[in-house]
Amino acid sequence: MTNLLKALPSNADLPQSPWLRFYRSPIGKKLISGATGLALAGFVLVHMVGNLLLFLGHDAYNAYAEHLANWGVLLYAMEGVLVGIALLHIGVGVSVFLGRLRARPEGYSTYQSVGEKSYQSFSSRTMIVTGSGLAIFLGLHLWTFKFGPYYPTELNGHSVRDLARLVVEIFHKFPYVLGYSVVLLGLGFHLRHGAWSAVQSLGVLQAGIRPIAYGVSALLAVAITLGFMALPWAIYGGLVA
Ligand code: HEM
Repeated sequence: MTNLLKALPSNADLPQSPWLRFYRSPIGKKLISGATGLALAGFVLVHMVGNLLLFLGHDAYNAYAEHLANWGVLLYAMEGVLVGIALLHIGVGVSVFLGRLRARPEGYSTYQSVGEKSYQSFSSRTMIVTGSGLAIFLGLHLWTFKFGPYYPTELNGHSVRDLARLVVEIFHKFPYVLGYSVVLLGLGFHLRHGAWSAVQSLGVLQAGIRPIAYGVSALLAVAITLGFMALPWAIYGGLVA
């Protein structure tokens, strides 16, 4: 594995445009990873809040989905941007991970900080694992919901997609509830380190407010994880029908 990694061409051997040079530089990677990560976290937060509308009833949820669908070309454009951002984020993440493997293939058996307080944690050490899990999950998730069965229903005299019925149907099945819960825990760990690391990479943090930002990103991760998890469990427990 190590030999294979070393045999790959190094960045210096490749022709480079200024954008590619930025993408390949350590500082460029940090900035791209931070900015794309924060954009994805913003999407996830909005998506989580949108899901909670199902607690208000099927009509509220379907009306929200229909409202988004009515954006038409603008929605397609935003989805395209989202895919681009996700691919950039994944590309940089994998490249940083492989770069670290190349530099130190054996890894550390223990993590000890010298000097300033270390922000190494279970979350920071498992970013590649939780990130890969989320990427696989995303494919299955879109297959299940976005490209899943189209149930029609009536809303204010119009025929619309009954996404609420699909969500309720899916989360009556325990394997989905369990699978989503595991993935959402992974998302929580990923966000816990990612949000903090992103603002730090973008240079927003001065040393004094670092512990506060560290705490806020933990709160954000817990809120998003629990916010997402509430719906599957509420449906499975019969609180949302
Ligand atoms: C209980 C948790 C979740 C539920 C019930 C849920 C539900 C849904 C539904 C119903 C759709 C289809 C929307 C439509 O076609 O209009 C959707 C799309 C999507 N979901 Fe989720 N979701 C959950 C968690 C997540 C998580 C954790 C992520 C990301 C990490 C995510 C990312 C996405 C993306 C990227 C789309 C496509 C959005 C678009 O194309 O406009 N979802 N979700």
